[in-house]
Amino acid sequence: MALNASLRSTWNLSALRRLAQRGFSTAAVQRMATEKPPNPKTFKIYRWNPDSPTEEPRMQEYKLDLSQTGPMVLDALIKIKNEVDPTLTFRRSCREGICGSCAMNIDGKNTLACITHIPKEEPSKDMLIYPLPHMYVVKDLVPDMTYFYKQYASIKPWLQRKDAPEANKEILQSPEERKKLDGLYECILCACCSTACPSYWWNQDVYLGPSVLLQAYRWMADSRDQHLQERLSQMENAFSVYRCHTIMNCTRTCPKHLNPGYAIAQIKLLMTKN
Ligand code: SF4
Ligand code: SF4
Ligand code: FES
Repeated sequence: MALNASLRSTWNLSALRRLAQRGFSTAAVQRMATEKPPNPKTFKIYRWNPDSPTEEPRMQEYKLDLSQTGPMVLDALIKIKNEVDPTLTFRRSCREGICGSCAMNIDGKNTLACITHIPKEEPSKDMLIYPLPHMYVVKDLVPDMTYFYKQYASIKPWLQRKDAPEANKEILQSPEERKKLDGLYECILCACCSTACPSYWWNQDVYLGPSVLLQAYRWMADSRDQHLQERLSQMENAFSVYRCHTIMNCTRTCPKHLNPGYAIAQIKLLMTKN
């Protein structure tokens, strides 16, 4: 039987010969040798349908064979939606951690489904998947981001100038000035940090939360922006910034490894100086 070298090394050659003697074709034996053994895993997923508003939210179980599923949690959700239950609803777009759409709570942590591996070490442990906590739910794993985006718009997240730049001239930055934006511009506004923050859970109507504050600091730190004073005075109240109690859940959960807790501390520092 013409088995290639890699199969010979992984399979006992005499076992393969026995299968061939029992009438299995070479192709069938090759297939058996390369097939991965089944690897079942249960996913328990939050379900709620706005079309049945009187029905309580529930957890629905789905069993998948991980040997037939991609390695990420988003792969599992897509497989369920495509092959098991098309009614399961979630957001996703880029599938590589840059759009922020697939933010959800996976096994107790706010993170991005597309860059979260399905753990292999404890196959018998069920995976628990919820929408981002303390947000209104549109359907299943889709949170309502309307208010979050309103808060984002409130900090005027764009470059503001007092004097207009000369026509056709760029506003230059030194490498040191540009460096101040590192760790800030990478934020993808996924809201994992804000929805992990206890202060944001209870004061969402008045506290801007770590995500929006990191974005606010991104513009305060930009040497090309000339509205620092206005940006700071907008926060001169007991709630917008000062509801942060430095619990640091935000920094712990950020899937992009940013430090919104540090950005908030920098805003507080600027407020004492200006
Ligand atoms: S700071 Fe991190 S967790 Fe927060 S919105 Fe930005 S990328 Fe997401
Ligand atoms: S450090 Fe501030 S923003 Fe971050 S989780 Fe704690 S209270 Fe919330
Ligand atoms: S799909 Fe874009 S961040 Fe996950």
